[in-house]
Amino acid sequence: MLRRLRVENFMSCQDTTVDLKPLTVSVGANASGKSTIFKALVFLSRLQNGVPLRGGSKGEFQLEPGVTLDQLVRNGNTSLPIRFQLWFDEDPFCQNRVRHRLFENR
Ligand SMILES: Nc1ncnc2c1ncn2[C@@H]1O[C@H](COP(=O)(O)OP(=O)(O)OP(=O)(O)O)[C@@H](O)[C@H]1O
Ligand SMILES: [Mg+2]
Repeated sequence: MLRRLRVENFMSCQDTTVDLKPLTVSVGANASGKSTIFKALVFLSRLQNGVPLRGGSKGEFQLEPGVTLDQLVRNGNTSLPIRFQLWFDEDPFCQNRVRHRLFENR
């Protein structure tokens, strides 16, 4: 199970860490970043399923219609590294932290 997620420079998140339980309730003011965390999870699940970010046969990657990769980086600053760190438990293949780093070598 995913226990902790750290999100950096993704949409409205500069550096946000959320701890997750079997049931986690997300509460906060409008535009505080609740949906951004869920979009990070959607994004990661797309990567996990092998969706290409660049050069795919279906054209430019879009997280949702009209939302391109460059729009996912915080404030549209594509020199910033989008970074995710994930901590899992109860999965022998995922005991260690998994990192995805994007944009860093562009
Ligand atoms: N690439 C980006 N860089 C910076 N901010 C962004 C980016 N993409 C979206 N945002 C901002 O993120 C904020 C929205 O955050 P989010 O949708 O996660 O909030 P929310 O807590 O779900 O709000 P609500 O309660 O209204 O659903 C908006 O202010 C939006 O302009
Ligand atoms: Mg929302």
